Parts: sequence; structure tokens; C-alpha cells
Amino acid sequence: MKKIVIHSAGSYDKLKIEDTPSPEPTSLEVRVKVAYSGINYADSVIRMGFYSSAKELVGWPITPGFEYSGTIDACGSGITDLKVGDQVFGITLFGGYTSEIVVPRRQIYPLPSFLTLEQAAALSAVSLSAYFPLIEMMKIRPGMKVLIHSAAGGVGSAMVQIAKAEGAEVTGVVGSTHKVEAIKRLGVDHIIDKSSVDLWAHAKKIAPVGFNVIADANGVETLKQSYEHVAQAGKLVIYGFHTMLPRSGERMNYFKLAWNYLRTPKFSPMTLTNHNKSILCFNLSYLFTKLDIFDEGIRYVLELLESGKMKPPQVTIFPYEEVAKAQATLESGKTVGKLVLKF
Ligand SMILES: NC(=O)c1ccc[n+]([C@@H]2O[C@H](COP(=O)([O-])OP(=O)(O)OC[C@H]3O[C@@H](n4cnc5c(N)ncnc54)[C@H](OP(=O)(O)O)[C@@H]3O)[C@@H](O)[C@H]2O)c1
Repeated sequence: MKKIVIHSAGSYDKLKIEDTPSPEPTSLEVRVKVAYSGINYADSVIRMGFYSSAKELVGWPITPGFEYSGTIDACGSGITDLKVGDQVFGITLFGGYTSEIVVPRRQIYPLPSFLTLEQAAALSAVSLSAYFPLIEMMKIRPGMKVLIHSAAGGVGSAMVQIAKAEGAEVTGVVGSTHKVEAIKRLGVDHIIDKSSVDLWAHAKKIAPVGFNVIADANGVETLKQSYEHVAQAGKLVIYGFHTMLPRSGERMNYFKLAWNYLRTPKFSPMTLTNHNKSILCFNLSYLFTKLDIFDEGIRYVLELLESGKMKPPQVTIFPYEEVAKAQATLESGKTVGKLVLKF
């Protein structure tokens, strides 16, 4: 079998394709012959050496990847409800960039008729990243004004659709004009293309007293203003910091990184109390102890997809041999929807 292995932090040349023996499942595990493996921005952060849970829980060498789809080719003796030949998709705590993966039964789902294998490989991580804050950490309600940064990306597209399905009035922010059509198709109520207009002047027009919810994975570039544009009793969801990091083609600048780290706002509990604003934060890679929540999230999203309230992710496919190109493309900041590797 093939897997993509990173032995130390660095650029795209660190993504090595290696041959290894097939893993064997234990009694409550299955082995999946992987058709597609989803790519997430976090995988690039792992390669850069800045992903805390990867360093704490695995170290080097590491195979990135949180999600996959494919066909079961071996079942542990305790598996009674799935069989060899079944098409499935699922989640994994790292290790997804591989042609064969062994996973516990609880992390795997039968492929529903309304998803293709490539769509299913692109579903889990972004769906859970949208479900967890909007449904589990808070209860998003009809009529709430919600602003979502990077709205055409993987997580952003899922957040837009879940917020719309729950009846919210959604503003999607994008960093490039070519993304506007994509978020229109997702049904956003307002679009701010920050490459051509003043983001916060427009946000103020849409929500003069602020938004009930703002979801921000940009970090330093927008976090301070995002907090300021949350309404009283509103919530700022923080789940990433990608504007600290270089886009593809840029060199890692450690001075700039340190400066951006220092410039990232620090929020005081006393100020938050007096402003009546809440900050919700999460990192799903530290949440694999709560698989019941993941399970609820996947089922919630499958129901939305089946009822037509959510569209399957828009997917761009790269052969696994082009993993470096795939990560560079995601890091360009120009992509719409999700990227997957084909094994
Ligand atoms: N905490 C968690 O558990 C969790 C889980 C999943 C994802 N995340 C985070 O959510 C964010 C989105 O992840 P994703 O996989 O769905 O990616 P994505 O949104 O599909 O792609 C990243 C987008 O971020 C924007 N961006 C701004 N500065 C960037 C930079 N320096 N490099 C690359 N992109 C930049 C670009 O969109 P615009 O220019 O249109 O804004 C780009 O298209 C990431 O920060 C990721 O780490 C966190």
C-alpha cells in the first residue's frame, strides 16, 4: 500500500510517498481500500510543523489526513453490521493520506445513495467543523445575523449551509471575486468580496448593531474587528488562524509569524463580561474522545443532504502523486469547496 509520510517540518518536498505493508484490523476495526482522501488546511499546518495535536499525539513521522472514502476489504471478527465490499466513508485522527486505512467501527459510515465517493471523502471534517460550533456549542436560531469568513472554502461552505438550514440571515465573506458565484449558489443572503470592497464598512451596513454570530478562522487579519462587530449577547467563533501563515509561493518568515502571534488579540474575561459577548473556540483534533458528538454531527449533515437543504461539497480531485500540488493549491487561498486525493 501507499501512504504519504512527512518526516520533518517544511515545504512541499517533505511530502514523501512510501510503500508499507497493509495494516490488519483488530476485532472492532475495519480496513478500507481508500478511493479518496479529503484534504484540509490543517494538513498543511501539520506539514509546516505548527499543528499542536499532531506534535503531541503523533510526532514525526506523520501521515496527515482526517477523512476518507472507499470500500471495505477486511473486517474484524466483532464487526456484524458491515461487510467486505461495502462502500463507506469516515473520519480518522490523522493517517488519512493512504491507500488503505484501518479504523475503529465507530469512525465509519455506509456511503449513502445521494453521495459519490469523492463527495463523501470531502464531507466529514468540514461538516463537523460547522456542526460543532453552530449546533452543539450554541443553538443557532432563525433570523440570527451570521457572518462567515472564508465562506467559499471547505468549512465556510458547510457553515453557510447549516446556518441557512437553521433559518439564519447569512453574510458570506470571500477574499477573491471568482468565489462570489459559488457562495451565491449556497444561498447566502449577503456577500462581501473583501478584495473589492471595504469589508467592515459593508458589514456595518448589513448589521448596524452587530452580528449575532461571527465565525472567524482568519486570526490576526480580522479577529479584532470580528469581535467588535459581534452584537450584544452575540458570539465570536474562533477555530483557525490561517492569515498568520504564508500562502503558497511565499517563504516562511519566522519574524512575521512571531509578530502576527503577538498582534493576535487577547480577550479579557472582564471585558467580555461587560460587553455581553461570548467567544467560542474549538479544535476537533482534540475532540476524538467525544465520538458521540461527531456521530450526531454526521447524522445531522446526512439528513440535511438527503432533504436537499444542503448541497454535497464541490470537489476538485488530485491524483495522490500530486499531493504537493494539492496542498499548494489549497494554500493559495484561491480554492472553492474541497480538494481530495484520489488513490
Ligand atoms: N479548529 C478546528 O477544529 C478546525 C477544523 C477544520 C478547519 N479549521 C480551520 O478552518 C480554516 C478553513 O479550513 P479549510 O480546510 O476549510 O480551508 P479553506 O477555507 O477551504 O481554505 C482556506 C481559505 O482561507 C483563506 N485564507 C486567508 N489567508 C490565507 C492564507 N494565508 N493561506 C491560506 N488560506 C488563507 C482563503 O479564503 P478567503 O481569501 O476567501 O478568506 C482560503 O481559500 C483553516 O484555518 C483551518 O485550520 C479548524
